[in-house]
Amino acid sequence: MIDNNAMFKISYGLFVLSAKEGERDNGCIINTVTQVTYAPQRMTIAVNKENYTCKMIEKTGLFNVSVLTEDVPFSIIQHYGFQRGGQVDKFADGQGLRSENGLKYIDKYTNAYLSGKVIDSVDCGSHRIFLADVTEAVILSDSPSVTYAYYQDHIKPKPEKKVKGYVCKVCGYVYEGDSLPQDYVCPICGHGREDFEPMV
Ligand SMILES: Cc1cc2nc3c(=O)[nH]c(=O)nc-3n(C[C@H](O)[C@H](O)[C@H](O)COP(=O)(O)O)c2cc1C
Repeated sequence: MIDNNAMFKISYGLFVLSAKEGERDNGCIINTVTQVTYAPQRMTIAVNKENYTCKMIEKTGLFNVSVLTEDVPFSIIQHYGFQRGGQVDKFADGQGLRSENGLKYIDKYTNAYLSGKVIDSVDCGSHRIFLADVTEAVILSDSPSVTYAYYQDHIKPKPEKKVKGYVCKVCGYVYEGDSLPQDYVCPICGHGREDFEPMV
């Protein structure tokens, strides 16, 4: 038996994953950063292959991870996590600073950033896992890191009870309607209808 809800018992953080290709910066929200070794310092990220950020990392082999803190407003999650880099220039208004590798990191609502240089990657289906050497790691503040559970409970707005629909348990996207189509896939995070639950 596989109870998909058991997967939600795994705890995660929340991060802005950023990349740069030529003069173009981009970034998205991910919850899938893991330190895998400390000698040498290495980490993995799991990124949806449809994400603009994923395609940039596939080409350049470089990324930054900015560790978000509990005071992060929902607008930041929306900005990086609910918009696609192919349609919007998320760094158009000059936010963020540059790390040693020349990529942007987020300096507000964050407590650290890590720079990664990809040494391997695995195609896992919907997502690609990148294994990377940590080339820079800097503390920015003492604020507590936001967990995925904290985001779900305290930052993500609660859907209006009057609206009929289904909410994606992974990213919080709301599908409005009486029934979810059989082959429905979340337009934000790419998860299927089994990861949606009816709004009550
Ligand atoms: C809370 C939250 C967690 C997310 N976690 C991931 C993740 O771990 N991996 C991923 O590829 N996308 C994740 N996403 C979805 C991307 O941030 C989203 O699809 C984004 O619009 C992609 O932007 P891009 O196409 O500019 O790269 C998450 C979104 C939210 C709101």
